[in-house]
Amino acid sequence: MAASGIVFVLFVLVHMYGNLKAFSGEVAFNEYAHHLRIFGEPMLPENGLLWIIRIVLLVSLVAHVGSAVALMRRARAQRPVKYQVKRNNASSLSSRTMRWGGLTLFVFLIWHLLNFTIVKINPAGDQSADITENPYRLMVSSFDLWWMTLIYLVAMLALGFHLHHGTYSALQTLGWVNSASARAKAKIAGWVIAIVIAGGFSLVPLAVLFGVID
Ligand code: HEM
Repeated sequence: MAASGIVFVLFVLVHMYGNLKAFSGEVAFNEYAHHLRIFGEPMLPENGLLWIIRIVLLVSLVAHVGSAVALMRRARAQRPVKYQVKRNNASSLSSRTMRWGGLTLFVFLIWHLLNFTIVKINPAGDQSADITENPYRLMVSSFDLWWMTLIYLVAMLALGFHLHHGTYSALQTLGWVNSASARAKAKIAGWVIAIVIAGGFSLVPLAVLFGVID
């Protein structure tokens, strides 16, 4: 779970950084998107890097969900009778929302890929190639819709909670949370990663909605 989680953290960090190119304008953003497709040519074929990333992400997703299911089964086997008392306060909001948050992120990812990568749906209605084949235009016309921005902001909230608790758990798995001060530092690390990544991702939809990017 921790190893596949680290792959995801690295991916979302780089993806978030790449999205900020939108603040440099349409040409810079689309050039960056195009560069990703021809990266490593002629050593790699066109889209070669992209396919390597896709395969690594898919394998990580299978490992991540598989580990989550195995952990849930193990926890259930240890405690066949449900808790009769309220959960204690030590379990933070983000730890309790890991399963639902993870599921929310999975549903978001399916919509996200249909929207921007696999089908290239423009929810604003104009399905002409001028928009759907232009990553920047597709993004701007999507986030011009308040409800699309809202969906993304809710998803980024789920991502923030998931990253916060996931980072803490991964550090624990790696054996780095073995004292009160290490626990406090691991929590801070979780918040920093969550705020930088989820906050960074939220900037582009918000900038489009408020007309800073158009
Ligand atoms: C506000 C948040 C986000 C925005 C604006 C955004 C934007 C985009 C855009 C424009 C593309 C298409 C790029 C292209 O055609 O070159 C894309 C692809 C993708 N995004 Fe996001 N993204 C966001 C959040 C996320 C998150 C949180 C994840 C993961 C959980 C994610 C995973 C992906 C994946 C896997 C691809 C497909 C890459 C490929 O196979 O071509 N994105 N995103």
